[in-house]
Amino acid sequence: MNPRLGKLQVYPFERLRVLLAGVEPNPALRPIDLSIGEPKHPTPTLLKDALSGSLDGLAVYPRTAGIAELREAIARWASRRYALESLDPEAQVLPVNGSREALFSFAQSLIDGSVAGARVVCPNPFYQIYEGAALLAGAVPVFLNDGMPFSAIDWAGVQLVYTCSPGNPTGRVMPLDQWRELFELSNRHGFAIASDECYSEIYCDEAAPPLGALDAAWRLGRRDFRRLVVFSSLSKRSNAPGMRSGFVAGDAALLKSYLLYRTYHGSAMSQSVQRASIAAWNDEAHVRENRRLYAAKYAAVLPLIQRPLATERPAGGFYLWVRTPIDDGEFARELHRQYNVLVLPGSYLAREAHGVNPGRNHVRLALVASVEECTEAAGRIMRFAKAL
Ligand SMILES: Cc1ncc(COP(=O)(O)O)c(C=O)c1O
Repeated sequence: MNPRLGKLQVYPFERLRVLLAGVEPNPALRPIDLSIGEPKHPTPTLLKDALSGSLDGLAVYPRTAGIAELREAIARWASRRYALESLDPEAQVLPVNGSREALFSFAQSLIDGSVAGARVVCPNPFYQIYEGAALLAGAVPVFLNDGMPFSAIDWAGVQLVYTCSPGNPTGRVMPLDQWRELFELSNRHGFAIASDECYSEIYCDEAAPPLGALDAAWRLGRRDFRRLVVFSSLSKRSNAPGMRSGFVAGDAALLKSYLLYRTYHGSAMSQSVQRASIAAWNDEAHVRENRRLYAAKYAAVLPLIQRPLATERPAGGFYLWVRTPIDDGEFARELHRQYNVLVLPGSYLAREAHGVNPGRNHVRLALVASVEECTEAAGRIMRFAKAL
C-alpha cells in the first residue's frame, strides 16, 4: 500500500460520529442537522430539464477537456462575474467533476514530491481536502491560522498555496491587498495558488459580490493569471451537489499539464452533465433566489445568537462560525443530547499550528435547512448555551 495513506487524518464527520456514539438525543425534539454543508434548497427546474433533455450524452465517451460550448459558457460567466476582458475558453478553462476532486487532483499534477521539503500552505481552519491532497502528493502541509499575516510562514520549499474565499468555515473574503501580497510572494518563491471559490455565489449584499482571485489578478495587471488556478462549482451556487459539476480556470500553462494529468486520471464530465451545466452557468435568476433564501435565514438566526455565544454575519458562504464558552466537542455532544441539534466542532476543521488550534471553542452551523428549522435550532442552541 502507499505509505502516504497512513498520514491521512480522520475526516471531521467520522470524528463527529465517534464523539456522538452512545449519546441518546432528546426524543421529545425532532432532530435538526446543521453539521453538513450540503445545500438543501431545491435544484432548479431548468437544470433538471436540461439534464433530462440531454440524456443522449450517456451514449458517448466524453472528452476530458469537455465540449467547447461548456468551456465557452464558463468563460462568459467568469468574464461577466469578474469583469475580465478576456478568458480563453480553449486554454484557460477546464470542466471538473465538482471542485473537491479538482482541488485534490490538481495537487497531484502540480507537486514535485521528490523534492525534499516540498510544502503546501493551507488556511487553518480549512476544508480537509487540501491537507489530504498535499500528503498524498508527497508534500508537508503547513498551516496559516485564521487572522495571521503571510509573514508567519517560512516560504522555503512551498510549491502550492490553497486559499478559500469566501472561507469555509469563517465566511471571510480575501481583500485585494491580501491578493497583492500573495501574488508578490508567488513571484518571489515560485509557488502556485489554488483558489477555492466554491462559495463565491453565496453572499448577502447583492451590490457587493465577493472578490475572486481572477478578478484580483486582472485588477493587479496579472492578465495571464500566472501561477493562479481558481476552483468553482455549481454545487452551492445552483443547489446541485449531486451533479458533480465545476470548473477550474486560470494559468494556461498549469492547465495544460493538469489536462494531461486528468486524461490519464479518467475524470471527464458526462456530456449530459455538461449540457445541464451550460444551462446553469447561463442563468442568474435561480442564483439570486438562492441568495435570497440564505439572506432570510441569516436575518432570522443572527439576532438570536447572543452571549454567551458570539458570531458575526459572514461576508460569504452559508455558515455561522460561533464562539462557544466551553470546549467545542463537549458543546456539540451535549447540544445533541439535550436538544437534538447537530453542529460540527470547530477544532475538527483545524489543526494545532503556531501553538493553537484556531477552531477550538468554535462550532460551525450550516444554515442549509429551512428558515423555520434554522430558527428553531438557533432557539434551542441559545437555551442550551444560557444554561451552561
Ligand atoms: C470549501 C469547500 N471547497 C470545496 C468543496 C467541494 O464542493 P464540490 O465538490 O461539491 O464542488 C466544499 C464542499 O463542501 C467546500 O466546503
